[in-house]
Amino acid sequence: MAKAALHLINLLRGWPHPGLLPKDLLSASSQAVLSNPEVFIPALQYGADPGFQPLREALATWLHSHYRVPRNPERICISGGASQNIACILQSFTDPNVTRAVWLVNPTYHLVFAIFDDAGFKNRLMEFPEDDEGPNLEVLEEKMRQFEEQDEQGEKKNQIPVKDPGPHRKFYRHVIYVVPTCANPSGKTMPVKRREGLVRLARKFDGLVICDDVYDQLQWPIDQKDKPTIRPDETIEMILPRLCDIDLAMEPSPNDPKGFGHAVSNGSFSKMVGPGMRTGWLEGSTAFAFGLAQTGSTKSGGSPSQFCASILADMIETGTLQKHLADKVRPNLQHRHRVMVDAIHTHLLPLGFQPREAGQLGGNVYGGYFAWLTTPDGISSRVISEVAMADMLIIGNGSMFQVEDNKHEIDTDKYIRLTFAYVPEDDITEGVRRLGVVTRKIQENPAKYQCFDKALSNSSLIDLAK
Ligand SMILES: Cc1ncc(COP(=O)(O)O)c(C=O)c1O
Repeated sequence: MAKAALHLINLLRGWPHPGLLPKDLLSASSQAVLSNPEVFIPALQYGADPGFQPLREALATWLHSHYRVPRNPERICISGGASQNIACILQSFTDPNVTRAVWLVNPTYHLVFAIFDDAGFKNRLMEFPEDDEGPNLEVLEEKMRQFEEQDEQGEKKNQIPVKDPGPHRKFYRHVIYVVPTCANPSGKTMPVKRREGLVRLARKFDGLVICDDVYDQLQWPIDQKDKPTIRPDETIEMILPRLCDIDLAMEPSPNDPKGFGHAVSNGSFSKMVGPGMRTGWLEGSTAFAFGLAQTGSTKSGGSPSQFCASILADMIETGTLQKHLADKVRPNLQHRHRVMVDAIHTHLLPLGFQPREAGQLGGNVYGGYFAWLTTPDGISSRVISEVAMADMLIIGNGSMFQVEDNKHEIDTDKYIRLTFAYVPEDDITEGVRRLGVVTRKIQENPAKYQCFDKALSNSSLIDLAK
């Protein structure tokens, strides 16, 4: 009998499952917006530079109760999503000559590399390692210190700014990019001490920490096998202070007389509502939020995503977004994560794979969209991902998340990232099973598969994630 053709399973794509898209809630909020001229007229015109004011107000109320910080809409600037906002932050607060280096934990969310390249930092991305608690600050500090020493001897003329920050912005000397909570790709969450340490380091070296806080609201208690599902209500372990709040609570920084701050939170509705909304927000100091709103493209057209912002404002004001997260998104992601973990235990643990179990080491909380595994016996994840394609399985291999630092001290090729948020639930189990079959084939005959290394370019894999 002919073998049934395998269907393609894409465990690389970091999208929400279509069933999680809140079309009815969006429809209701759109109706509410479009039936009220006091809302739809400003919503459909050019907007204010810092963003649609009702969304700033609604976010300030929600984030104030979520993070237990003082409520202040002036700290918030609406964006076109986290990615677009990084580009705006770099346009306004960095200069390719004044800003000497960009520091990225290795592995890093791979799609930010091009944003930094576009801002003039190609070949100036510096890697530093992570440990079980996230970014390794001892190594980072030493690398920054050495960098400063060498840079001092460099030609000073290279440090003349090519741009003018004007009175409302400044150029930082360093940028550090991190995902402090449920990191993409590693799933790690930084404990409070590590967060404080990173803020102190940024202050010491005149750095800006850009925190992609896009998974903060998407965490849940780890569901125990054979026990009733724990309702994914938010617990204190899920509400760690953001680096921007830690920074603002510290004494003024000598490197920063105008009070722009040394850390900003980059939020997004992509994973909570839908990536097509292309809307997010920045929260930082009031000076930083104001300065960001001075970015040229914002001054020209007003804040991005004005109409989407009006719909999201209605969802937050009426509480439908918060309810959607509590009743649908978090329970669904919790369940999907459980399904993937069960499949990993059945099909991959016996082969020697090691998964990251919790956001914080020894913790009870997981979150985000991704599972992160170490391959058995150091088998190359590039080889696994290439062989898996023949079995109609697409996975993220660790080298996709490798920072292109020319020193290449850290090798991420022993890691695999699997998305549990996107595919139908049955495909989560089937995809993990196929990964086990592929890995076993390689383990049984490694010589046969050696030539697969570097056969597939990561840029073509990244395209498969789209
Ligand atoms: C860490 C991180 N930052 C940013 C993004 C993209 O956010 P946005 O859709 O708001 O640009 C993603 C999406 O996967 C992400 O994982």
